[in-house]
Amino acid sequence: MSKRLKIAALAGDGIGPEVMAEALKVLRAASKKFAFEIEVNEAPVGWAGIDASGKALPDATLAACKASDSILFGSVGLPDRDPTIPRDQRPERAALLRLRKEFSLFANLRPVKLPKALAHACPLAPQRQGDGIDILVVRELTGGIYFGQPKSIQDIGNGQQRATDTMVYTTAEIERIAEVSFRAAQQRRKKLTSIDKANVLENGALWRDVVTRVAKKYPDVTLEHMLVDNAAMQLVLRPTQFDVVLCENMFGDILSDEAAALAGSLGMVPSASLGATSGEQTFGFYEPAGGTAPDIAGKNLANPIAQIISAALMLRFSFKLNDAANAIEAAVEKVINAGLRTGDIYNPADNSARKVGTREIGDAIAAAV
Ligand code: IPM
Ligand code: MG
Repeated sequence: MSKRLKIAALAGDGIGPEVMAEALKVLRAASKKFAFEIEVNEAPVGWAGIDASGKALPDATLAACKASDSILFGSVGLPDRDPTIPRDQRPERAALLRLRKEFSLFANLRPVKLPKALAHACPLAPQRQGDGIDILVVRELTGGIYFGQPKSIQDIGNGQQRATDTMVYTTAEIERIAEVSFRAAQQRRKKLTSIDKANVLENGALWRDVVTRVAKKYPDVTLEHMLVDNAAMQLVLRPTQFDVVLCENMFGDILSDEAAALAGSLGMVPSASLGATSGEQTFGFYEPAGGTAPDIAGKNLANPIAQIISAALMLRFSFKLNDAANAIEAAVEKVINAGLRTGDIYNPADNSARKVGTREIGDAIAAAV
């Protein structure tokens, strides 16, 4: 019997629904070619959830996620919507952070790759791009300052307030994300750069100690520690020195956007957020690294590639369908090499390139699978 994949598809806001439609199109093409079945459960999240049933993560949506083997996620958050809705009920915290915590998705993988054909879209001078940029950012996703308690804004008299966020990490939390990053490095170029602020933060000192200890189990991987401010600089000066970059939650948030800019467009960077593996099964949450891009939403302008490759990562990590995942990635590469471009990666000076819309590039990728 063929494998049946139960997928919750949460398109969300802004460009989410448009890019999700293309990813589902490509998944369906892959399911025909590679003989697996998909059962897609589409559910609202973010402002779409608030509009549908008053909550950024409606109960029915959470139930659909729990009943599935993985979540394919679009994007949430529209900064201009109703400012009276409290911060803790807005989509970023009430849906996205909530889902990360609910499913213990502690390992966030963001592969940043600049294809040769898109060298023009990279903001760095050609000599800094070397033979190509290929970085995997591994970001801790359920700890650190995002979730640490206490977290508050308190009145302290005289019209003054005091805001507190708390950065907390335990040995076990650092160990498990370090393990993920060393194993990823073993599959790649065997170099790991661990990011911290060990010169100022106690969290940084512990992070460095624990990662150094975990490294002993992976003698084939070269470990280097780098302070986060230097890493921000090195990413633009010499990005080719990086293979796997390991970060705590907030540093990873910042550096992964910086790295993504090097890939030419946020619209090209997928991500996988994984929990612990139990037996054969890894529950995962797959989403493009870019946001809702409200300025281009609904206009058939968005680049669906990050969403499509996120679906490929889902096939690989949650369902072990490596051939199908590889086929989707190869189809993306083929379509890019054939010159099809959404606006974000289009170069008017390139005569072989053709500017197309979200649906057209999605159709082409689905056909190439
Ligand atoms: C990301 C996003 C989120 C984060 C926001 C939307 C809460 O920036 O996934 O990188 O900060 O983690
Ligand atoms: Mg971010």
